[in-house]
Amino acid sequence: MRNILALIVFIPLQILFIPLTIIGVIWVTYKQLIVSRRLGVSQTAIEIINGRWTMHIFGLRDDPAAAKLAPALPNTSTFGLWLALFPLYVYSRIAGSVKWYPVIAKLGEEGVGNLVTNRTGYFDSIIDNAKDDAEQFVLMGAGLDTRAYNHLKDSGMKIFELDQATIQQLKRHSLQKAGIDTAHVTFVETNFSQADWFSALTAAGYDPGKRTIFLWEGVTLYLGEESVRNTLRTVKANALAGSVIAADIYARSFVTGEYARGMKATLPVLDMTDEQLSFGIEMTGDYQHALDSFVTSEGLALGETYFMGYKTEKGAWMVVAELKV
Ligand SMILES: C[S@@+](CC[C@H](N)C(=O)[O-])C[C@H]1O[C@@H](n2cnc3c(N)ncnc32)[C@H](O)[C@@H]1O
Repeated sequence: MRNILALIVFIPLQILFIPLTIIGVIWVTYKQLIVSRRLGVSQTAIEIINGRWTMHIFGLRDDPAAAKLAPALPNTSTFGLWLALFPLYVYSRIAGSVKWYPVIAKLGEEGVGNLVTNRTGYFDSIIDNAKDDAEQFVLMGAGLDTRAYNHLKDSGMKIFELDQATIQQLKRHSLQKAGIDTAHVTFVETNFSQADWFSALTAAGYDPGKRTIFLWEGVTLYLGEESVRNTLRTVKANALAGSVIAADIYARSFVTGEYARGMKATLPVLDMTDEQLSFGIEMTGDYQHALDSFVTSEGLALGETYFMGYKTEKGAWMVVAELKV
């Protein structure tokens, strides 16, 4: 009944809103692509905070820090997001559930449209299960992730955020502008493509004698295979046994753009901020075996895994995995 009422309100509202929705989408896209490019920072990190902001607003996942940080960023627009999403928001309030976007799909049924929503939840689960045994939390390629400023703030773990200098400086400035306390976080400027990237973390106070969660979310796909393997080796060499690396790894068909129709045509957009897709593993066929082979070849063991899309016709296209040191 509520769904029908919600549709009755949604349809005319969305029709009236079409011009505003278009303006909202253009404005958010302009900020994400053009302003990110001008600032020399990751546009894909914006994709994620926009998704997290939306999940928070629609009541799918609490992220008060993202709700405060997003409006303070120069390369997104929460006003534009409101213009784009308001009719869907009204639908969700009346129906008491979400439809079309943002949606958390069932495990194995995810499509590309569920990338941020589902992926975020899978990483949350791995972190929740590992956090009681960990004393340090290292966000590798932290981007605009806000986990450090929500409930993990009081977890007792020492928190490090690693990223390239330009985006980290933008984040720190925007966190300050948003009035978010960062005193408990140690920021470290790094580049995983450089051989000695870990030394900056050690110099910042990382203790190799403490069990650690390394969060590597949304990063491997932008690196070359050598860089991914070297990073895993370096973490393993510097982490106490029992530590975990939570990482997402993509199917080769996803990074080449062959996974979905039209995807190849959209990939050049990533060139604007120099974020070409690169590393993926072969997931057609026995995707579990493919992942296991990759992980064990680096001397790591598999813990929790969440293969996205494995129940769909096109098969698994990415996995969020817990890699045990
Ligand atoms: C898609 S964003 C993910 C951000 C964050 N992990 C999240 O989930 O919200 C990718 C991040 O990886 C960082 N990154 C990409 N290549 C890197 C490299 N070689 N060294 C350090 N950071 C890198 C980018 O600066 C960007 O912040």
